[in-house]
Amino acid sequence: MAKYNYQWTKVLVGACTVCAVLALFLLGLARMWCQSESDEEPSFTVDSEEISGTQSVPVIQFELWKKKKFARLPKTFWQSHLTGDAFWNKHQAVIDYHFNPLLSHHDGNIELDSPFYESLLPQSFSEVSGFVGTMQLPEMLQDFVSSMHRRDYSTLIQPNGLCGAGATDEKEAPLLLLAIKSTDLNFENRQAIRETWGQAGWVSGQNSKRKGSGGYVRRIFLMASNGQPPSSELLAESTLYGDILQWDFKDTFFNLSLKDVLLWKWFSRYCSRTRFVFKGDDDVFVNTVKMITYLRDQLQRPQAEKRMKTFMVGYVIGGTSPIRDDSSKYFIPDNFYTGVYPAYPCGGGFLYSGVLAKRLYQVSKRVHLFPIDDAYIGMCMIRLNIFPIHHPAFLIYGFPGKDEEAQCSYHTMLMIHKRSPSEMPDLWAHLRKTEEECWDAPLRNVYIAQHL
Ligand SMILES: *[C@@H]1O[C@H](CO)[C@@H](O)[C@H](O)[C@H]1NC(C)=O
Repeated sequence: MAKYNYQWTKVLVGACTVCAVLALFLLGLARMWCQSESDEEPSFTVDSEEISGTQSVPVIQFELWKKKKFARLPKTFWQSHLTGDAFWNKHQAVIDYHFNPLLSHHDGNIELDSPFYESLLPQSFSEVSGFVGTMQLPEMLQDFVSSMHRRDYSTLIQPNGLCGAGATDEKEAPLLLLAIKSTDLNFENRQAIRETWGQAGWVSGQNSKRKGSGGYVRRIFLMASNGQPPSSELLAESTLYGDILQWDFKDTFFNLSLKDVLLWKWFSRYCSRTRFVFKGDDDVFVNTVKMITYLRDQLQRPQAEKRMKTFMVGYVIGGTSPIRDDSSKYFIPDNFYTGVYPAYPCGGGFLYSGVLAKRLYQVSKRVHLFPIDDAYIGMCMIRLNIFPIHHPAFLIYGFPGKDEEAQCSYHTMLMIHKRSPSEMPDLWAHLRKTEEECWDAPLRNVYIAQHL
């Protein structure tokens, strides 16, 4: 009898274990389903051209940031319905699948220079079938899609084996590379930058008496061609300044993310010792002295080396939907991309570490190019499982209210968007003139930024 009882318990325990496992599984499923329901796109959209004051900008709230409650990766197995028929999502899902440790046959640790990567992007085109035909996309996007798998463009002009202008007599690794997106037409912008905030060479930090407060700065302009060989003017400019990097692809708005990817590739080869990159447009104004000081401080913080692996800071926008208004230059229809954009720093100007630049290059090999360059940065970042940090000293939408009128206003910021080449010399002179009295003006809202 005792023996009989004992076996019953065994059966009972066995049955209960099966029940418990089943219940847990169902619970998990229910949770995923609920999450996918609540992952609906937020109702606001943002068109940067319409924004004047910073108040109305949906800057990522840092509580939100801490909880990472936005812009998840599409879970390509359970949530494949979320990608719908959107062209980009479908193609990216094929690639993400290869790197999903649960579903793919390898562990994702593929040798980085393996030919696997070379074939990956084109491969997604043959694997995706039965989706929206590209003919249903607007003409500009059709053009984008036709070369979306390509990034093997040759380099037409580059400084001779050097990481940009400013490489003479350096006694230590460069602190900062200024990498500025420019175009053939914007010679004036480049010249104004060269003569003001973009001067290469040694730049002293704010407190020049403090040891190690300065750093070497280098400069490069990121350019593309228009299917023609470089003009004689541009060649002469390159010979004179050594700061032109030009690739052989068409210089259009939708091709801008190519400039980021090819910059990372070039950086990994020629700048590997450089500590930081400032990526900006040629219509921004930077307080270089303040930026050098800020970067030096970052290197002095505890665990700096570890932090550098993920360091990216700028004016961060999180959880926004693509612009669905077809008159906007940022227009992305929902048959091209669904879901929200992962948090990204506004492309006008942001900073990241050299270590991260190299990681971004590697991860970019498995992220399809995207027509909006800022969003592309976010898409690469989220696949490294990291998030850019918001800092209010990046003034993408100008000074809030009357802040600009204060004597030391330009000493409280790292960069400001939309300053013309003719304004830059005056601003630069103003910064130099007010240096003494404003030397200890703190960066805008530094308290919040440091506590993120
Ligand atoms: C991007 O550049 C390539 C190569 O020059 C070109 O074929 C393509 O049309 C360009 N894409 C867009 C959207 O302009």
